[in-house]
Amino acid sequence: MLLMTFIRVSRRLVSRRLTWNFCKVITARMSIEKNVACYETIYRNVVNGKAEPMSVPAENLVRMIKLERIAPQVAESDVALDFGCGDGRNTKFLSDRGYQIIATDVSQAAIDATRLRMGAKPIQTVVLGIGAHRIPAADGALSLIVSWETLHWLGSREMFAHYFREFVRVLEPRGHLVFTMPTEQHYIKLNALEIGFSQYQCQSENREDMIMYAPNLPTLRVIIREHGFALKTVKTYAFGDDSPEWGGAHNRFSMYAFHCVAA
Ligand SMILES: C[S@@+](CC[C@H](N)C(=O)[O-])C[C@H]1O[C@@H](n2cnc3c(N)ncnc32)[C@H](O)[C@@H]1O
Repeated sequence: MLLMTFIRVSRRLVSRRLTWNFCKVITARMSIEKNVACYETIYRNVVNGKAEPMSVPAENLVRMIKLERIAPQVAESDVALDFGCGDGRNTKFLSDRGYQIIATDVSQAAIDATRLRMGAKPIQTVVLGIGAHRIPAADGALSLIVSWETLHWLGSREMFAHYFREFVRVLEPRGHLVFTMPTEQHYIKLNALEIGFSQYQCQSENREDMIMYAPNLPTLRVIIREHGFALKTVKTYAFGDDSPEWGGAHNRFSMYAFHCVAA
């Protein structure tokens, strides 16, 4: 509301382009701060024992990793990055599969929850996602990057491109990138306001005013190709039914899952 008033007033005073660019910076920042606050609460409750962590890894990730035969060449030596690790459900799965692990998240509570789940297993963790930072790995050091149900929360084309470039930098030749993005049918995207190039201001309950960057499938294919990845597989999965909790028959939690291979 306040932002809309600001836009109307400032449009009269300065150029539209200047106002638009300024608003994009402000809203992207607001989005990340809302993301952090939202996920801090979720994962702090897990760490404090007030909420249960997810009990199993994401079934569609497990399916993709196993069907595509993604595994370490040298067990306990190959390194995998879990970007946006959450409560560590997938981190543990990758570790059990024989990878050394780097786990990152924008939320400190998520990192704490992941460390809790991993127990005595060695793991490198870092809080990452606010601003364009470097992934803590040398060029070509990783054989696998997983980013499950996370990358759309980077919120802008610029941040998405930054971390994609980082993925290219840290992956070894023929290294694997497995990630998800919302489909055009995802209920949050369907209910969101489109405020920029593939950029959406969420309206759904518990996600109000968070901003996500969610290009459509043809655009994602171009982004993948332009970063030098070969797209091996793209699958779609969805949860939800026609109950009000999911917002109606066509409003599903619906994601694309990609398996790409670095050049
Ligand atoms: C839906 S959860 C998925 C967590 C985990 N990958 C899983 O599958 O259980 C989204 C995760 O993205 C993280 N996240 C949100 N915004 C982020 C950002 N800008 N950079 C990095 N991680 C972010 C959240 O803290 C959260 O852990």
